[in-house]
Amino acid sequence: MKQNNDYMEKMLARKTPSTGGGFSAEGMKRAEALMALYPVKRSALIPMCHLAQGEHGWLTEECIEEIAALVGVSPAEVSGTASFYDMLHLEPVGQYVISVCTNIACMLAGAYELLEAVEERLGIASGQTDKDMRFTLEEAECLGACDTAPCLQVNSRFFGPMNSESFDKLITDLASGALAGVVPPHGVLSRVERVFSLTTKGATDAAQMDTTDAGQK
Ligand code: FES
Repeated sequence: MKQNNDYMEKMLARKTPSTGGGFSAEGMKRAEALMALYPVKRSALIPMCHLAQGEHGWLTEECIEEIAALVGVSPAEVSGTASFYDMLHLEPVGQYVISVCTNIACMLAGAYELLEAVEERLGIASGQTDKDMRFTLEEAECLGACDTAPCLQVNSRFFGPMNSESFDKLITDLASGALAGVVPPHGVLSRVERVFSLTTKGATDAAQMDTTDAGQK
């Protein structure tokens, strides 16, 4: 159990993506356990990609090769499959990947104004990562949280409705570590305590974080 905790702690403490490398010994054990869940090994390919991304923040070449060898396909098949999914990254990305939704409901609620404010605040354009590898910005299709438009996603967490002021607060809180227990580093599909519901508007859950502190409107 201690080893599992250490494994998770190490992933949660990661501030920048790995420069490369394969699975750790614990990661390899988990990869094998994942394969054992399926009658056909290659069915574990996507979960293993998530596992690799959890360890490194992105899908390293070494992990792609290891996954390919484990499930019995070519590395090109692994990277080809991974490239289909927006949440899997074949290049290093920042500790926080910020996806601003610009689909119809968010667009009508001011998503492009929000995106402009976000670009200005981060000093990067959509599709770029800042020099400290802290933030990656991307434009996203509907996040399925239209009732909180305009909204965005930071790694696996949702925030909305947002405006330039609440985004400023969100970035300040992310940079200071104030949201470390809420937003895990990119790639970590964690058991980190969830204090938000997916859509927070009107929610009365007593466990819900004060939305002002979370950088939300
Ligand atoms: S249109 Fe933005 S979440 Fe649906």
